[in-house]
This record gives sequence, C-alpha cells and structure tokens, in this order.
Amino acid sequence: MKVLIIGGGGREHAIAVSMKKSRRVEKIYCVPGNAGIAQIAECEPSIGVMEFDKIVAYAKKKAVDLVFVAPDDPLAAGLVDVLKAEGFRVFGPQKRAAILEGSKAFSKDLMKKYGIPTAAYETFDDPKKALEYLEHAKMPIVLKADGLALGKGVLICNTLEEARAGVREIMQDKQFGSAGDVLVVEEFLTGREVSVLAFVDGRTVRSMTSAQDHKRAHDGDEGPNTGGMGCFSPSPFYTEEVDAFCRKYIYQPTVDAMAAEGREFKGVIFFGLMLTAEGPKVLEYNARFGDPEAQVVLCRMKNDICDVVDACIDGTLDEIELEFEDNAAVCVVLASEGYPVSYQKGFEITGLENFEGKESYYCFHAGSKKDGAGHIVTNGGRVLGVTAVGSTLQEARANAYEATEWVFFANKYMRRDIGKAIDEAL
Ligand code: AMP
Ligand code: GLY
Repeated sequence: MKVLIIGGGGREHAIAVSMKKSRRVEKIYCVPGNAGIAQIAECEPSIGVMEFDKIVAYAKKKAVDLVFVAPDDPLAAGLVDVLKAEGFRVFGPQKRAAILEGSKAFSKDLMKKYGIPTAAYETFDDPKKALEYLEHAKMPIVLKADGLALGKGVLICNTLEEARAGVREIMQDKQFGSAGDVLVVEEFLTGREVSVLAFVDGRTVRSMTSAQDHKRAHDGDEGPNTGGMGCFSPSPFYTEEVDAFCRKYIYQPTVDAMAAEGREFKGVIFFGLMLTAEGPKVLEYNARFGDPEAQVVLCRMKNDICDVVDACIDGTLDEIELEFEDNAAVCVVLASEGYPVSYQKGFEITGLENFEGKESYYCFHAGSKKDGAGHIVTNGGRVLGVTAVGSTLQEARANAYEATEWVFFANKYMRRDIGKAIDEAL
C-alpha cells in the first residue's frame, strides 16, 4: 500500500512510524511533513494542509491507496469529503462529522440532547447577553470560543472582571477570529483530567489506552496554555471502573448520537474527560488523534495500524480487538524557549543519531526542517517530542528524561515535571 499522511507535527511523525511498522505499507508520503518524517517518508513541504487542490493533485500523481488526514483544520474544512469525491480511500471524519470538534456549541447541544455527561453550559451569539448572564454566574467559570482556536480558545475566569475581559477578547476583539462568533459559557469542573482516543467506524467504537497531556507551558501547571508540553500513558487514574462507565455512558452514546443526527463518524474521536466527584464528564471532543497523545499511545499499540484504519473505513471495526502492550510511555516536548508567546527558529539540532537503533526510544519531530545546507534546524515552538517506553510509568519517565539529554539546540526548553502526577497516584 502507498499511504499519504496529511500533517507535519509530532503526531504525524508517530502515525508515520506506526505505518512504517505495518507489513502492508510499501511507501509513505507526507504533506507537508517535517525533517523527522522525511527520514521514513517522502515529504512535500511546499504544500499546506489547507491547499486541497494541490493535495488532490499530489495524491493522484503518487497514485496513493490511502490518505490519512490527521489535523483538525483540514478535517473541519472537509478535506476528507474532497478526497472521497475524487475516489480516494480516506481515513478521517467527513465535514458533517468533524463538527464534533469544529463547533463546541454543536458538541454541547449534542451531549445535552443525548444525555451524555458534561458540564452545564449556555451559548451566546450576543456579547451583551453573555455579559448579563455572567453578572449572576458562579465563579470560576469557563469561556470557550465555539470554533477551532489552536487549542487556545478556552479561558478559565476566576472573577467577574476576568470573565468580562474574556467576553471582550473572544467575542468583540475576536482574538480567535470567527471562532469567537459564538461563545460557550460553561460550569467549572474539578477533578483529574484524562484523554481517551477511540477508533470509530460509524457504529462501533474501540477505545485505546488512556493518556494525560500537560497543556501549560511551565512546571507546576503554570504559564500560558500550549499545544501540549508532554504526555504519559496510561493514566493511573483511569481505572477499570471509570472505563466501564465511559464506554456505557460516553463513548458508545456519542457515536450513536452522531449516527442518529445523520453525521456518521468514521475516524478517531478524542474524548477529553474530567473525572469529577460525580463521575466522568466530557470536557471536549476532538475529531482526530491528539498531539502529543498519539506519540505515547501509538507506540504501545500492538495492532497493525492499517488493519484498524481499514476496519474504520469499511465499517468492520466490530471484528477488531485493539491490543496494547502492558507497559507505559512518556513524551517530553523539547520546545523553543519562549513558546508559545514568542521564540526564535532556525537553530541547528544535533544528536539525533543517538536515537538510532534504540528500540524503546523515539524522537518525534514537531517543528523541524532541513535548511539549505542540509542541516536539520528548529522550525517551530514545539520542536521535538522525546518519547520513551518503560515497564512502568516511572521507568518510562526516567528513560524519557534521560533521552532529552541526547539532543541539542539553542534555546531548548522543556518542562521538568511531565508525569509527576504518577507519583501522587501511588
Ligand atoms: P478544552 O480545549 O475544551 O479541552 O479545554 C482546554 C482545557 O481547559 C482543558 O484541558 C481543561 O484543563 C480546561 N477546561 C475546559 N473545560 C473546563 C471545565 N468545564 N472546567 C474546568 N476546566 C476546564
Ligand atoms: N493534546 C491536545 C490536543 O491534541 O488537542
């Protein structure tokens, strides 16, 4: 099989590594890809993920058998529909289904209609009405831009003042563009957060092992929200009891609800969960693999990813049992100092060869490219996702932090407490 992966981050590198392991994959292409993915795939850095016509032309030229669309923006904008119309086999939800992530107002209304546990909420398209409502609301409160905002459109407000400023930012100053035309105001939940990714074929849902992301830039969950500074899998807080509850009251009901709405979902659903005192509740849905969740989950999956992808496309996922290694994985993101606010790019990355031939270690590239002189240089805020497997979470964490010392670049920054919650669980 010739496979084309759309995207160019650490998640896509992890997907490419899984594809590479498949006995059925003969050649991998990636648009745009990055310098790490280029070690195992043919990349086309000149095409962007939103350039649908160019993607179609490229897929035709390379005569690919399967296209795997990984990022949120092209999914929400209907790349899967465009490719399908051109006759390609495509993995990912169509536009009608990707709205599960593309509109928070949609997903909240869906959960309410079908009784799926989530935080209480109201939606507003008029900032005046939102402000009136907030005058009497209990603090803290959560404000969410309805649309896609690079994972940054969520504000947790401790005071009425902060909430007023948040409405201004999202709805009036349009800090997240049209994503802020509609505002979701949501009850603040407390508890442990855990993410569960699941393959879905329209009817059947097969959940993967759990993971936990670290969204804030600095140690101790301080500083601004980022795309994710690190991740571990499995979460010790995601017990069998929690899993049984989520399967019955969250995963299957979500898939059934989408089908009932005429929005059959095929692809991966990312369930962002809060384990509250009243039980698990949905914080958010994503219509794709998480980044860096994919990095710690896929390296533990025993199945051939192509078998699972095929089953999702063909509606035969009920015939597949997902299997994961009885181990753990930790990913520590090496970022550029200053991310996510402002940072410099273009510094040479050295030491990458230290990962060669080391089975339980991965250096997933997130923001890297080859410069004119053929050197691999930093090309983004999140640069690398150093990932290691271990027989326990502690071992995986120790291995991952050890491996962060194998690579070098100017302004290298990382959190030192990825997976610290593991110790609290013991
Ligand atoms: P989201 O993009 O919806 O996952 O939100 C980003 C982050 O904001 C989540 O990972 C949580 O840490 C936090 N968050 C979102 N919704 C809530 C909520 N209702 N209560 C408390 N924290 C929340
Ligand atoms: N790590 C969170 C996300 O991919 O949205």
